[in-house]
Amino acid sequence: MNVPVDQHTPSPCSVVVLISGSGSNLQALIESASEGGYRISAVVSNKADAFGLTRAKEAGISTAVLSHLAYANREDFDSALTRIIDNFQPRLVVLAGFMRILSSAFVNHYAGRLINIHPSLLPDFPGINTHQRALDANVTRHGASVHFVTEELDGGPVIARHSIPVVPADTPESLAARVLEQEHRLYPKVVAWFAAGDLKMTKRGARHANITLPHTHKIE
Ligand code: GRF
Repeated sequence: MNVPVDQHTPSPCSVVVLISGSGSNLQALIESASEGGYRISAVVSNKADAFGLTRAKEAGISTAVLSHLAYANREDFDSALTRIIDNFQPRLVVLAGFMRILSSAFVNHYAGRLINIHPSLLPDFPGINTHQRALDANVTRHGASVHFVTEELDGGPVIARHSIPVVPADTPESLAARVLEQEHRLYPKVVAWFAAGDLKMTKRGARHANITLPHTHKIE
């Protein structure tokens, strides 16, 4: 029996995920893909020993390793990376613990379809050591943000944040663990928004068809 093919069924949004390490956010994205209306076409790492590559392989996702050490400069590495990514023709490129500063050419090539997750409530604490810096600043709340990537490091339009209280006993490690747990809820939600066609980067910031951005989820 021939099964009729529905020409109008939209294919799930193709996503390429870039990682450098553990890939726990990648895992959360893998687990939410079908419900979120997206498909992870490939995972690319600049580190051959990134555990995220194992997670991808276990989920049957294509993987590629491109070591930045093999390239003389950032631009050459980024253009090789672009070629690998574009082979998979993704609608969205997701940075999930990809520990590289990206060139202007790379960022501009994927403008409006390149997102990152950062472990702080942006615009507070861009850059590294965010949990220690949050404790040093005696903030009462901390968290994670997803943003569109622009040329400004951790400075592109913020899409959504999850915020948690900081407690007196917190250490950078305890904060990191609680923030990471929220990242795993936040990132799939934002990717699903993009997959549904509801999310755009505009000159005036991130825009969602029905929700005022940046969306902030507060946990007491
Ligand atoms: C996360 O804390 C994320 O916010 C930051 O890098 C870390 C990646 O962790 N950009 P994982 O590799 O997803 O476990």
